[in-house]
Amino acid sequence: MKVLCIESSCDETAAAVVRNGREVLSSVVASQVDIHALYGGVVPEIASRRHLDAIMPVIEQALEQAGMTLDDINGVAATRGPGLVGALLVGLCTAKALAWGRGVPLVGVHHIEGHILAPFLETELDFPYVALAVSGGHTHLYRVDGIGRYRLLGQTLDDAAGEAFDKVAKLLGLGYPGGAVIDRLAGQGNPEAVRFPRPMLKRDNLNFSFSGIKTAVMNHVKSLGDVVPEHHADIAASFQAAVVEVLTRKTVAAAEEERVDRIVVAGGVACNSGLRRAFATLAEARGIRVVFPSPALCGDNAAMLGVAADAYLRHGRHASLECNALPVWSLEEAGFQE
Ligand code: KG4
Ligand code: ZN
Repeated sequence: MKVLCIESSCDETAAAVVRNGREVLSSVVASQVDIHALYGGVVPEIASRRHLDAIMPVIEQALEQAGMTLDDINGVAATRGPGLVGALLVGLCTAKALAWGRGVPLVGVHHIEGHILAPFLETELDFPYVALAVSGGHTHLYRVDGIGRYRLLGQTLDDAAGEAFDKVAKLLGLGYPGGAVIDRLAGQGNPEAVRFPRPMLKRDNLNFSFSGIKTAVMNHVKSLGDVVPEHHADIAASFQAAVVEVLTRKTVAAAEEERVDRIVVAGGVACNSGLRRAFATLAEARGIRVVFPSPALCGDNAAMLGVAADAYLRHGRHASLECNALPVWSLEEAGFQE
């Protein structure tokens, strides 16, 4: 079974061909980051227009790299939500047109479902596991009992962790998006230079809050008067240490509470080197296996949709051609309807 997968929920136009829900035959990602960087964040209208320009060339490239034509495809999958509605519609409507034109089934996949199943494209993994989906729009903890079987354990009550990285980078004048820049700078700074808060760590639940850390950074910067570039590395390292400590300790607590010994960390922030190191020490010391997708599968891409798409197509869970994009959509609702 070969599935053409299309992702356009935010500012990356992506297409991939995935065989049997495990083997990536091609994966093409066209990023719009340069244009949005001029505005300090994603401009929805620009994103939609850019997706329209990029979608067909990206799909053609994905088919070409896989050495295929549309005649070889057994199904078409697209991200149905959550995300920017105009952006989602470009990918979803293109997928509908291709599926209808070729007479093959359409499947709609949840964006976060794609992220947290991405490891199956690279490694053997058993259920159940706890998944931390950590990106620019999400900081959510799920128990995953199988493809389509997800239970929400906790989530951010305000900013997503990636959003906090981006806002702190903006505050320090480091551009957009800021996660990777902060990560690099943090490597040159002292993580103990400033003690930023670790919100919700002592709370008896698995929710997160990151807006307080961001405000603490803002207050610290104000208290310094002029932030000279020499301060940047220490601030970045101290901020990253606070976010990483909260993410790792809460995720490990979730795994222990759920009595599972596997954790998947996925989404753009899963590229963070401090986060990867901290999980290795904290979880693995407790006998918990931690799986991070490789960086190309952490950020937004279409190949990650292939795992769920394959399972849903095999079970006949097709989407109708009348289905709409869902800018807000809970993962629990997106799975197999039991
Ligand atoms: O999953 P993703 O590509 O898009 C969304 O679905 O949001 O995640 C993008 C987010 C951005 O906030 C970006 O700053 C963050 O991931 N990010 C990082 C790193 N690389 C990307 N955050 C921390 N450290 C990184 N190395
Ligand atoms: Zn994402």
